[in-house]
Amino acid sequence: MSEKFNELRKIQAESKLGGGEKRIAAQHEKGKLTARERIELLLDKGSFEEIGALVTHRSNLFGLDKMKFYGDGVVTGYGTVNGRLIYVFAQDFTVLGGSLAEAHAEKICRIMDLAMDNGAPVIGLNDSGGARIQEGVVSLGGYADIFYRNTQASGVVPQISAIMGPCAGGAVYSPALTDFIMMVENTSYMFVTGPNVVKTVTHEEVTSEELGGASAHASKSGVTHFTYQNEVACIEGIKTLLSYVPQNCEEDAPALPYEGGDESRPKLNDIVPDNSNQPYDMREVISEVVDEGTFNEVHRDFAENIVVGFARLGGKSIGVVANQPAFLAGVLDIKSSQKGARFVRFCDSFNIPLLVFEDVPGFLPGTDQEWNAIITNGAKLLYAFSEATVPRITVITRKAYGGAYDVMNSKHIGADMNFAWPSAEIAVMGAKGAAEIIFRKEIANAEDPEAKLAEKEKEYADNFANPYRAAARGYVDEVIIPEQTREKLIKAFKMLENKAVKLPKKKHGNIPL
Ligand code: HXC
Repeated sequence: MSEKFNELRKIQAESKLGGGEKRIAAQHEKGKLTARERIELLLDKGSFEEIGALVTHRSNLFGLDKMKFYGDGVVTGYGTVNGRLIYVFAQDFTVLGGSLAEAHAEKICRIMDLAMDNGAPVIGLNDSGGARIQEGVVSLGGYADIFYRNTQASGVVPQISAIMGPCAGGAVYSPALTDFIMMVENTSYMFVTGPNVVKTVTHEEVTSEELGGASAHASKSGVTHFTYQNEVACIEGIKTLLSYVPQNCEEDAPALPYEGGDESRPKLNDIVPDNSNQPYDMREVISEVVDEGTFNEVHRDFAENIVVGFARLGGKSIGVVANQPAFLAGVLDIKSSQKGARFVRFCDSFNIPLLVFEDVPGFLPGTDQEWNAIITNGAKLLYAFSEATVPRITVITRKAYGGAYDVMNSKHIGADMNFAWPSAEIAVMGAKGAAEIIFRKEIANAEDPEAKLAEKEKEYADNFANPYRAAARGYVDEVIIPEQTREKLIKAFKMLENKAVKLPKKKHGNIPL
């Protein structure tokens, strides 16, 4: 018997070698870790259990009959992160460039099925040359099997994709279907068609990094939600993100113990400038209100006029959506609407309450916005908030103008509580624009039109540039001194803890995509 045991030990040892020492060294030379090293860093020590380690490829064409690699270029299994179960796959670039074919895809599908059946997140560590060219259509079929599962798992278990090498062609669509994408600077890239095809078709000269590197996708396309300087930081980022999200759609995110104390935050009183056209950084408001150091910003460099991210309030995980007056005056445009909507829908899928800070002058005007469908895209954010059934609270810090007042989690579209600071201005539009329209004739006929405009502007502002009309209607539940915000929010979210709202019976809604 011991001979058989030894044979197994030999096979087991061989299965851990990937594409061999040379290829592992080449991987390290590129500043990349191997699939197994990545898994080791991600999971709690000793918790990894591998599934399908002895699976091999099935095709014998184009020289594949002379090769045998255990695992078929992907390491799959389960383990724990901070004691919580997760399923993981890590593509092994040292084996046939991490390329995906029949057996490789089946292994990924297997752990996705297990994740869905057992209600735990799936983490994909992507590093692959794409469809395995030697295996033809089974590679394409394998991708589609994964895409299908990504879609089935969406909203059931959190799915996180870290891109740690090439990710090109149709391969990009699996990460794109997951909840969050993370990229590593300088060693990862994503594109549907690479620089050579781009050059042939559009005559543009562009490098892989420029076309689909971490920085392009963080700031230009918004494809990636997070970027990191290196793989170690990226893996830490996955762990941090996991700490804010539940295991599945039927659970709540883990809460940290919290002992209440003095919740007053006097610094909040001095953040909004007296001049309502002067910018300020909404991140300062967020950081002051939430538990210290807990704001984990998502999509930091994309559509900076809206800030979204996870935080903790009284130890509990919340999602924050905030207009950013420091960038484009916090205006809503196409990209910020898309960014906000996607984040709201994630939080709602996974029972994470939403906190909105509002200071928005309206929607961005212009042909670029109109012709690129600000109507459809703005509607995404409106739809996402209207549909969300998690506890939802808004704090209006300053401007809440026009349609943007409705969109930014107003009570009319289902917010549970709406607080306003005394600096809030809730109206159809700013006082100057309003005066110019409704008093146009009076101003034109006045002896001193400028003085008349100033007088009418003041009249409009005195009437509407405040939160009290909205409060008189109950649209605002309470006008509060900024320093009280944290205390009010902790109490209100506690009050809403058992909120249970059912949407009307339907197959699914039809969000304006
Ligand atoms: C088979 C592949 C492969 C692939 C890489 N390899 N990609 N084998 N199928 N798709 C192999 C290489 O032959 C090489 O084997 C080893 O992996 C390492 O690759 P290198 O080229 O030496 O590495 P590097 O210089 O880092 O370049 C990486 C790369 C390049 C940029 C990814 O390998 C490349 O361009 N590969 C082809 C990419 C591609 O066109 N894929 C198909 C995309 S279409 P040896 O034995 O020499 O070390 C697609 C459609 C999906 O994916 C559709 C889904 C719906």
